[in-house]
Amino acid sequence: MFFLKKKPAHTITILPHPTLCPEGEVVAAQTGKSIAEILLDNDIEISHSCQLQCACTTCHVHLMEGEAYVSKLHAEEDRMLNTLPDRRRWSRLACQAIYQGGGNVVVEICN
Ligand code: FES
Repeated sequence: MFFLKKKPAHTITILPHPTLCPEGEVVAAQTGKSIAEILLDNDIEISHSCQLQCACTTCHVHLMEGEAYVSKLHAEEDRMLNTLPDRRRWSRLACQAIYQGGGNVVVEICN
């Protein structure tokens, strides 16, 4: 007897990170959860010093693909990102980027 593993409709791809996921990882996207929550649910221990409250920048990620499938940047997140010397146009705080469904996302963990 064998079980077929159900292929997720959409995925979050995490690019290789030297300590958190050296090989990179592909996990199921979960609509309504933040990118940080999805990573943590999958044992990828992204930093989150303020406990996902948009009050630090330790969960900084680069959203490499799939911008259309996550919530828009909001003013407080924008203000926090402006404190980063390495902010890029595609920078997001993983705790504030909520996956909204519709496609695949690719992220790079910055810290
Ligand atoms: S965990 Fe602090 S801003 Fe995301």
